[in-house]
Amino acid sequence: AAAEKGGYAHFMLKEIMETPKVLADTINPRVENGEIHLEHEAELDELFRSVKKVMIVACGSASHVGYAAKYVIERLARVPTEVDIASEYRYRDPIVEPGDLVLVISQSGETADTLAALRLAKSRGAKVACIVNVVGSSIARESDYVLYTWAGPEIAVATTKAFSAQLAVIDLFAVRLALVRGAIDEAHARELTAAIAALPEQAKALLAREEECKRLAARYQNAKDLFFIGRGLDYAIAMEGSLKLKEISYIHSEVYAAGELKHGTISLVVDDTPVIAIATQSHLIEKTVSNIKEVKARHAKVLAVCREGALDGDVADDIFTIPDGEDLFVPSLDVIPLQLLSYYIAVLRGCDVDKPRNLAKSVTVE
Ligand code: G6P
Repeated sequence: AAAEKGGYAHFMLKEIMETPKVLADTINPRVENGEIHLEHEAELDELFRSVKKVMIVACGSASHVGYAAKYVIERLARVPTEVDIASEYRYRDPIVEPGDLVLVISQSGETADTLAALRLAKSRGAKVACIVNVVGSSIARESDYVLYTWAGPEIAVATTKAFSAQLAVIDLFAVRLALVRGAIDEAHARELTAAIAALPEQAKALLAREEECKRLAARYQNAKDLFFIGRGLDYAIAMEGSLKLKEISYIHSEVYAAGELKHGTISLVVDDTPVIAIATQSHLIEKTVSNIKEVKARHAKVLAVCREGALDGDVADDIFTIPDGEDLFVPSLDVIPLQLLSYYIAVLRGCDVDKPRNLAKSVTVE
């Protein structure tokens, strides 16, 4: 079993460490001479030109990729994008027009609710594209267009490398969509493509800072309740950070869009309540900093995940820095320290990291 884990203590850690390779395997075959080429290019480009709306349907962590995708697709391609949890979508009589594009995201390709949502969308005339990891899975077989994540088998129940690969496909998809629709020009597309192609090396540099995450884990391991906050793409990634931590460490955690905390449970932020603030989006940094100050005023203990030099040293108690780069693609990077933090906190608390109680890797019944 130790050999299967490649010398790592758990599959989860092994799989996090595979992120650079998985990103490279997912990105490189789709980039040629600085241009993005997706599978089914002719058909997808035609659909991209005419599509009026993108609807993303997924469950669990894959739905968090969907929330990130909404920001990236709308910002770059200016196509209205909705995100739905599959178990909601399938029972709410969704409005689907022929020619709409439904984008289904799933690691296993077998999640029952996601598959049912796909079938419903198809029956109503939508074109269905999927981002799936397991080759030949039900969702892959039933979709019109398949964009595989090349993450390889994922064993740990908590998804890590497949999540990062899904984000990378979204980035490629959004840039191609934006270019084909004329929302960005070729020079801009090339710049963005180069930024995507740089992700594997940047991920490698972050993983080399594993010890930093371990030290932070020791500082936050005894939390009873914890908050994640962020705005925009940082909010999407905060959702995943919060879920990951809850899933494997059993620490109760809440995630809030940073501007919304004051409308809700800031009443629960008291002395030493840990708050993890994701603040990588440069156009939002001032706003997020003011939210950090709100929780600091209630004596929260704040860990900020931000760009180098973005925050004054005294704004947060701890800072984990992310290398500079395109804001739109940073989720693939900032999820890495959050995954490592959850992992080490769970290990320190003696949890069964690879097989958290009550959770299944793939939920094939409703
Ligand atoms: C389960 C897993 C989650 C996963 C979700 C969707 O709940 O525990 O990690 O995100 O299913 O799975 P899928 O295979 O469709 O991505």
